[in-house]
Amino acid sequence: MTDNRPLALVTGASSGIGLELARQFAIHGYDLVIAAENDAVETVASELRTAGPATVQVEAVKVDLATSDGVQRLYSALASRPVDAAALNAGVALGGAFVENDLADELRMIELNVKSTVHLAKLLLRDMTARDAGRMLVTSSIAAAMPGPYQAVYNATKSFLQSFTEALQNELSDSAVTMTLLMPGPTETNIFHRAGMDNTPLGRADKDDPAEVAKQAVEALLAGKDRVVAESLMTKAQELAGKVVPDKVKAALHRKVSEPDQ
Ligand SMILES: NC(=O)c1ccc[n+]([C@@H]2O[C@H](COP(=O)([O-])OP(=O)(O)OC[C@H]3O[C@@H](n4cnc5c(N)ncnc54)[C@H](OP(=O)(O)O)[C@@H]3O)[C@@H](O)[C@H]2O)c1
Repeated sequence: MTDNRPLALVTGASSGIGLELARQFAIHGYDLVIAAENDAVETVASELRTAGPATVQVEAVKVDLATSDGVQRLYSALASRPVDAAALNAGVALGGAFVENDLADELRMIELNVKSTVHLAKLLLRDMTARDAGRMLVTSSIAAAMPGPYQAVYNATKSFLQSFTEALQNELSDSAVTMTLLMPGPTETNIFHRAGMDNTPLGRADKDDPAEVAKQAVEALLAGKDRVVAESLMTKAQELAGKVVPDKVKAALHRKVSEPDQ
């Protein structure tokens, strides 16, 4: 990789929002290290090399970020090159009734959505604060502000990421390092199918465009903004409503869209 271009790390970059975040960084002239669990991350690497006006370097790292070993292996793959921008985005969801779901699936989701983000943030923010430079994006969700019946653990992981990121924004406020909280609404990706939610109103609903979510997200990161709610007006309205509607009402509304068909 060349040292002339800035470097961006994107986790969960093989599909959906992460793939589009990586594309945006390529368009902005960043070299990339992209990470995901399956072979697709290697396939998309070649597409991303020529996604922008100039060719960039893209290194694909196939790694299970639900394990500490996977996080360490990704960090090692960065070698000594400083990371200018990091998008901690990899995540999975899980639909269904809490008492019926497999505990192992829920704990693995916590390992990925929560633990790997804390672990990577620890490693990367130590480097960034030592250099007093760097930008980080954390993908939470507008679901962070809603108790999530039939997605109970998923929504809680996203609430954790919101609280965690907002706390660090305060801790880092005397440094040049910035953290941007990405709050997407329902977005057209594979996450709902993978979560077993095809048989829910949310799974079937029209959703936001991941490319537009990522465009707004990277613009906000580059501007050093604290938070970006992306991307449609409906998503922005839902996020605003989430600030005033009581939690019990939000839970009841969430259940209407996330409960599987009877
Ligand atoms: N889509 C939405 O409506 C929505 C709304 C709000 C927030 N979000 C958040 O956006 C983020 C991206 O999700 P998405 O909607 O773009 O879904 P997606 O298309 O399913 O992408 C998920 C990405 O995470 C990777 N990943 C999953 N498990 C992994 C593991 N154990 N180790 C490494 N990588 C792993 C996947 O790679 P593999 O396929 O290789 O596993 C994939 O690249 C998530 O954090 C999600 O919570 C999504």
